[in-house]
Amino acid sequence: MNNKLQELQKMALEKLAEAKNAAELNELKVQYLGKKGQLTQMARNISEIAAEERPKFGQAINQVKASIEESLNQHLKEMEEKMLAAQLKKESIDITLPGRNVDLGTVHPLTMVINEVKDIFLGMGYSVEEGPQIETEYYNFEALNLPKEHPARDMQDSFYVTDSTLLRSQTSPVQVRTMEKMVPQVPVKIICPGTVYRRDDDATHSPMFHQIEGLVIDKNIRMSDLKGTLLTFVRQMFGEDREIRLRPSYFPFTEPSAEVDISCFACGGKGCRLCKDTGWIEVLGSGMVHPRVLEMSGYDPEEVTGFAFGIGVERIAMLKYGIGDIRLFFENDLRFLSQF
Ligand code: DAH
Repeated sequence: MNNKLQELQKMALEKLAEAKNAAELNELKVQYLGKKGQLTQMARNISEIAAEERPKFGQAINQVKASIEESLNQHLKEMEEKMLAAQLKKESIDITLPGRNVDLGTVHPLTMVINEVKDIFLGMGYSVEEGPQIETEYYNFEALNLPKEHPARDMQDSFYVTDSTLLRSQTSPVQVRTMEKMVPQVPVKIICPGTVYRRDDDATHSPMFHQIEGLVIDKNIRMSDLKGTLLTFVRQMFGEDREIRLRPSYFPFTEPSAEVDISCFACGGKGCRLCKDTGWIEVLGSGMVHPRVLEMSGYDPEEVTGFAFGIGVERIAMLKYGIGDIRLFFENDLRFLSQF
């Protein structure tokens, strides 16, 4: 009987050592230690043994059982460790590899300029207004003192949508919309950034471009307020040692009107290619709000006065970043855009 037991133990241990996976180990466990397993069967036959041999036989069975269990557990543990090691190896990350590049977008240069201008004027207590891009003739022209057949309408050859609506040719209509909303309150102190459209297309003109309108209405607003405001703006935008120059000009909605030049930031005013040897660069149009415009929007020009200005965003961006062709802003060429 003991021989048979030894034989069984030997077989069992050999088979356990050969098992290739946990399932096979489990099968062997059932085969030897299960309810109908070989060792269990032998234990059942203890009654066939002489009574005095039984304790020894029982002991021997227990020993074999223990050794099979121990081997089984040992192999299970080894297998688990192997599997874990294999899995870790498969899933391991080489943290010394260079990272994969994610292409991040950048802020468009025109948006950068608009944000910068907004920041400067918000700092001076202005708020930001917006208006529709499809505008009526009334707001785009008439309310800005440009009646039908007025020759100045030709200054802004525009895209009509219907007989009386058009893609706005300037952000100035937002002046009127804001005044109508605010009247009779003062002060009005707003800027309005936005897209505008004109029939124009060359290296410095695009059929779609951007302006930032400014409007201030209050009691006793004077030309010197306009000049001081623009000087503050220009110095923050183009450098603390910039000077400005107001040149008499004409806009139907301002009287008097002025075009504003800044001292050239490339040469400091000595004359260079950027300022075409004049020492000055034109950056915006401005003026004192025409009494007719105030009146049409409901304000009393005897009570309040105001100034307004219009900044060309593309022009500022071209000057600031030295860009020679306006069309680059709208071609979406990453080689251009990724430089900002
Ligand atoms: N709207 C003018 C244009 O598009 C720019 C402008 C000039 C706006 C003078 C103003 C202003 O508010 O006062 O040419």
